[in-house]
Amino acid sequence: TFPKQVKIVEVGPRDGLQNEKNIVPTAVKIRMIDMLSEAGLPVIEATSFVSPKWVPQMADHTEVLKGIQKFPGINYPVLTPNFKGYQAAVAAGAKEVSVFGAASELFTRKNINCSIDESFQQFGQVLQAARAASIPVRGYVSCVLGCPYEGKISPAKVAEVSKKMYAMGCYEISLGDTIGVGTPGLMKEMLSAVMHEVPVSALAVHCHDTYGQALANTLMALQMGVSIVDSSVAGLGGCPYAQGASGNLATEDLVYMLAGLGIHTGVNLQKLLEAGTFICQALNRKTGSKVAQATCKL
Ligand code: HMG
Ligand code: MG
Repeated sequence: TFPKQVKIVEVGPRDGLQNEKNIVPTAVKIRMIDMLSEAGLPVIEATSFVSPKWVPQMADHTEVLKGIQKFPGINYPVLTPNFKGYQAAVAAGAKEVSVFGAASELFTRKNINCSIDESFQQFGQVLQAARAASIPVRGYVSCVLGCPYEGKISPAKVAEVSKKMYAMGCYEISLGDTIGVGTPGLMKEMLSAVMHEVPVSALAVHCHDTYGQALANTLMALQMGVSIVDSSVAGLGGCPYAQGASGNLATEDLVYMLAGLGIHTGVNLQKLLEAGTFICQALNRKTGSKVAQATCKL
């Protein structure tokens, strides 16, 4: 059985734009986020407060977060790898932040330049400050179905890292198939392990579509009771430290499938398609959404 309602976490402005070769003008990012707000997405990850030396695409985080319209009822979380990022995010007005770790030692090293243990020390500082300020913290676990550096990742390792993040105070754990290598069978095995440690109501899935499995993997998660799904408008996305990884599950395709299943999302597909067209034109690239391709009148 499927959940009656699914919360979609739109990650395009962050996961999508962090991976574009060209730096997108701040005004374009702001318009994109405003259009996504108009489409009724309940959560829009706006940017990340990471080092501009590591990810120059997100260097305008403060301007973006200050420049967007804040719709009532919509959350605009941002990524914060450490306390420095957290402080900058809060100064820019962030009301929710996300820490991001991984179930792989090598990926953690390449992505945030520390070991898994050290990453938990950094997250601990963020969580402590956030708790005092009543700021909710989401936790990402990357490489849950495979790692670009280590290959196979055991479900037990994913469960261990997820449990730790949840116990530290992350209210939601997003399980990332960072390089999109998973298949529904692997998703089932991994989720079964994680669900022993973290309540399914606190779990989200974050599927990249490199091998065309994102929608199938997400459907498997929904069947297992997951009701929070990350996706990206126009299927934008990728991680600079996971070479070859393609975009996320396209939000348009997710919304179309959920509507077909009679599952409520509150998202207006027409307005979402307009946001996708807007950003694809600005980036001068083709949409990664099948639904957008199928309904394109151009
Ligand atoms: P580091 O070089 O080890 O950091 O980077 P450091 O503490 O040694 O500091 C070095 C310099 O960076 C210093 O500046 C710091 O002040 C500065 P300097 O003295 O040289 O001028 N610095 C910062 N500046 C701005 N904001 C900060 C910050 N922290 C330190 N927050 C660090 C460590 C974590 C900063 C770096 O590795 C980094 O920024 N990594 C981010 C990588 C990233 O953004 N990856 C993509 C997001 S994760 C993802 O895409 C996966 C996901 O989608 C889920 C999935 O798909 O699985 C979430
Ligand atoms: Mg991602």
